Amino acid sequence: MARLQSLSLHHFRNIEQAELAFAPGLNVLIGDNAAGKTSVIEALWLLASGRSFRSHKPQQLIAFEQPQLVLFCEVAQHNQTFKLGLARDAQGVSLKLNGEKQPSQAEFARHLPIQLLTPESHRLLEEGPKARRQFLDWGCFYHHPNFMPAWRYYQRALKQRNQALKSQLSTDQVNLWNAPLVEAGERISQLRADYLTALTPYLVDFCQQLMPELQREPELKFYTGWPANAPNYASVLEDHLARDRQLGHTQYGAHRADIKIKVNHQEPLIGLSRGQQKLFVCALLLAQAHYLQAQTDDSVIMLIDDLPAELDLVHRTSLLQLLQNLGIQHLITSTARELIPGHENAQVFEIHKGTITGQRPSRSITSTGV
Ligand SMILES: Nc1ncnc2c1ncn2[C@@H]1O[C@H](COP(=O)(O)OP(=O)(O)OP(=O)(O)O)[C@@H](O)[C@H]1O
Ligand SMILES: [Mg+2]
Repeated sequence: MARLQSLSLHHFRNIEQAELAFAPGLNVLIGDNAAGKTSVIEALWLLASGRSFRSHKPQQLIAFEQPQLVLFCEVAQHNQTFKLGLARDAQGVSLKLNGEKQPSQAEFARHLPIQLLTPESHRLLEEGPKARRQFLDWGCFYHHPNFMPAWRYYQRALKQRNQALKSQLSTDQVNLWNAPLVEAGERISQLRADYLTALTPYLVDFCQQLMPELQREPELKFYTGWPANAPNYASVLEDHLARDRQLGHTQYGAHRADIKIKVNHQEPLIGLSRGQQKLFVCALLLAQAHYLQAQTDDSVIMLIDDLPAELDLVHRTSLLQLLQNLGIQHLITSTARELIPGHENAQVFEIHKGTITGQRPSRSITSTGV
């Protein structure tokens, strides 16, 4: 179980200084437009992933005219408390876990299994395969400790092969990288394929709960990133060398993987309304969350930015009920507390022009069964 206990922010976007102590179940952050709600969600996502979901320039996260931002959170996991600190200034980022400097973000991610639902989340269905690969890899990362090393190994080999192609080096020098690429690429593919197969029954279940009106079960098909009719990945690299040379990069591989989704025998963008697309993304995240709980002793922390913009009251209620049933800690933002079903029993924070005030729930969250 991972439980977010507290978060403090210093010079993060419009928040000069704030401290939040979270409840184990439902946490609600209320504020007007531009108050700083998404900034709080963004800060947690930054701690977990090292990235923002709305800016490619990390400098933009530092409050105007300040030299650095600092984030700090405490997570209870496996009967221990982990203290995660992140500081960013013009020179770069520095990370500390329990006071010890960290070379990479991966350890932070392990302690913060965060899932994110924003008004842009339906892009998972709309845009290119990158978001769907990230979705798959999120799961593989938490379920398989050897996924990350394989992925890093693959990225290194791919970079070298592409460099060799771009520099028009000899065939031998290009092919030198085929073996590591094939080894890591096939391992990654197997993990992704197995993950998707295991996840599908959970998805079917949550789709039924959130969209009982659907006539058929959704189908998810894994695309490895190379032609399905090829005997193996090694032969694809050999057969497409000439084209790779022309392009100056490796056309096929695990870096091109995707999930082909069908709902009611159609692509979700055709077969589902916009609201249903959002519910489908909710079902995907809930499936990941439940599968993680079923297979490991971990539990996700779900962040939902602007829930009312996402779903109508009936579906908001269903989603929150499912999260409560699963015992998932969640932080939800909204412009008005009345829009959040069950807010009476939640830890409610208010944010006004970057200043946060919080009050303890009137009834203990644990007494409501969360
Ligand atoms: N680096 C920064 N320094 C100071 N303020 C910033 C910085 N970056 C963004 N802001 C401001 O922070 C404010 C809060 O933005 P945020 O998106 O978090 O608000 P919000 O509460 O989510 O609003 P909405 O309800 O409209 O989604 C905005 O007014 C924005 O202009
Ligand atoms: Mg916002």
